[in-house]
Amino acid sequence: MKAAVFSTKTYDREFLELANNAHQHELVFLEPRLTRDTAALAEGFPAVCLFVNDQADQVAIQKLAEAGTRFISLRSAGFNNVDLKAAGRFGVKVARVPAYSPYAVAEHTVGLLLTLNRKINRAYARVREGNFALDGLLGFDIHGKTVGIVGTGKIGEVVARIMYGFGCDLLAYDPVTNPQCEKLGVRYVSPSDLFANSDIITLHCPLMPATHHIIDAEAIARMKSGVVLLNTSRGALIDTQAVIEGLKSGKIGYLGLDVYEEEADLFFEDLSNQVIQDDVFARLLTFPNVVITGHQAYFTRNALEKIADTTLSNITEFEQTNSCANEVQIEDIKR
Ligand code: NAI
Repeated sequence: MKAAVFSTKTYDREFLELANNAHQHELVFLEPRLTRDTAALAEGFPAVCLFVNDQADQVAIQKLAEAGTRFISLRSAGFNNVDLKAAGRFGVKVARVPAYSPYAVAEHTVGLLLTLNRKINRAYARVREGNFALDGLLGFDIHGKTVGIVGTGKIGEVVARIMYGFGCDLLAYDPVTNPQCEKLGVRYVSPSDLFANSDIITLHCPLMPATHHIIDAEAIARMKSGVVLLNTSRGALIDTQAVIEGLKSGKIGYLGLDVYEEEADLFFEDLSNQVIQDDVFARLLTFPNVVITGHQAYFTRNALEKIADTTLSNITEFEQTNSCANEVQIEDIKR
């Protein structure tokens, strides 16, 4: 099937071309992100392949549909960037990669935690400068701390297993309990109890209306002073301005982010020769106790192989049966 691949980077192309040996789709790689202005690039393509910052809003979907697109194959697990209602109205089916490597994201989350706690980023820079002083690098034992996991699906469960290995007490909030987590000793509590009793809070739920700004000023007010907050899920789970206030007051002791609400204008590009126009993001970069990575938690060889394979298998399945087991259902955004 002819598929237009938006937001292509060299690594996407490498993995998709390799996986396509088994599928033989006609892939056309496009560098631009999908927006309502670039949708015309997909004219005549029955399938388009999108990533996390492509904007499949109502207008873009209408343009795609009018130009012949019937299938959107997401190269991601999250689907908050697609207007599913509009897709339904215009007869465009949407499929995702429900699971590729929960280990990639979970391990990166713990990497952020260790970097923040032991200040490895600062230690690395110091040692390269010949500065071996330890002042300012004091950390704490993670063993014995209480970790609150918001969302215990595939990634949250792996985080729970890793933190269990560290010897942590585990709390969680998820409308659906995960028996594997319960077996580990995870105690399910309300969001407010989780916020009030966790030393480390980590977000692993999807972005949907119910979780938008789940971390706001009110939630932060309930947290322990000096809490570690980690978000490797989606930027808009956090009200960034409220988090900045929390950092300034010391309520938030450490912040680790792999995602940012307005990341679409920043992430995945080399902007090192430009002035960053986003003042909120620029403020975040000034804190010594904030570590940010640019949506790279998923970025392992294992994950890219699986993403490429599932993305193309979804297109093959749609081509052969006009449906797809990994189709995202409208009910998925209603929760
Ligand atoms: P999953 O679907 O296996 O788990 C999500 C869990 O969140 C489910 O157990 C669900 O019941 C729960 N949930 C739903 N509504 C909730 C609410 N209101 N409060 C708390 N929990 C709620 O998804 P998976 O694979 O674990 O991924 C989680 C998220 O991680 C994705 O939605 C995506 O946004 C993000 N992600 C980030 C990546 C990165 O590179 N930074 C890569 C892959 C995923």
